[in-house]
Amino acid sequence: MGMIKRYGMIVILEHWLVAISGIGLIFTGLGCLPLFKRYYISEIYGLKWTEDFHIVTQLHYIFAVFFMYTVLFHVFFHLIRREFGLLPKKGDLGRAVKMIFASFGIGKEPKADKWLPEQRWAYVLFGIVIFFVSSTGMLKVLKNLEWVLFHPETESFLNLLHTISGGIFILFFVVHVLFVLVVKANWPLLKAIFTGKVKEEYAKRRHPIWYEREKS
Ligand code: HEM
Ligand code: HEM
Repeated sequence: MGMIKRYGMIVILEHWLVAISGIGLIFTGLGCLPLFKRYYISEIYGLKWTEDFHIVTQLHYIFAVFFMYTVLFHVFFHLIRREFGLLPKKGDLGRAVKMIFASFGIGKEPKADKWLPEQRWAYVLFGIVIFFVSSTGMLKVLKNLEWVLFHPETESFLNLLHTISGGIFILFFVVHVLFVLVVKANWPLLKAIFTGKVKEEYAKRRHPIWYEREKS
């Protein structure tokens, strides 16, 4: 059995641009707090610059440009092409629970489409938190312009919302990466997010609904 195409170049690029700029935003966001001097991380060889508030804020802005561009591109690209396969379907919550139990050897995995039910849920949750972190981030950029003034209470509310949504983003990122790296059944997907292909045998076994559609 051969390989089957899962993603084209554009989707792979989208994922890695969001991932790299997202990781950059996490790192520089923690630098803006500022955490690196307080916890002696800036003492590590080569990391002295992380205690410079000006540098980490500028880097946070640069990563934000790439991040926002890719997120907006993703939304419009798939909307225009009417590709909605990552949005949850009826009954996904129950199927996601079964899927997670099955990955620990309890019960059998329900038949899946191109994406597993828990992946579709992860997508929506990521979407919601990205909406909050990005919109509060953009308002914070506005506030940093010298001719834009916010009420002090609005400003501290924005800061709080950005820090909380940033924290949830970090949590989702950790769970996402653990889910991919620790659950052995997901390793073929890790290969696919780099090469765009999966083995036919894997697709037939784990994503039978998608496999049948591709073959018909
Ligand atoms: C901030 C960083 C990242 C974000 C926002 C992100 C977001 C996403 C989203 C929204 C999906 C769609 C499916 C799903 O919800 O699971 C996805 C898929 C995936 N991601 Fe990430 N990701 C990030 C970093 C990473 C990293 C570092 C890895 C590798 C360790 C990774 C590996 C994967 C894999 C293997 C898939 C599944 C592809 C498939 O179903 O074929 N991601 N990611
Ligand atoms: C997606 C992941 C992101 C994370 C984890 C994150 C995290 C943080 C954290 C922890 C801070 C410091 C605390 C605070 O001032 O509230 C911060 C500051 C900031 N963030 Fe983000 N952020 C993210 C995305 C963004 C985006 C997309 C934008 C812009 C569109 C943005 C704009 C800003 C600005 C302007 C500041 C204040 C810098 C200053 O101190 O003047 N952030 N971010």
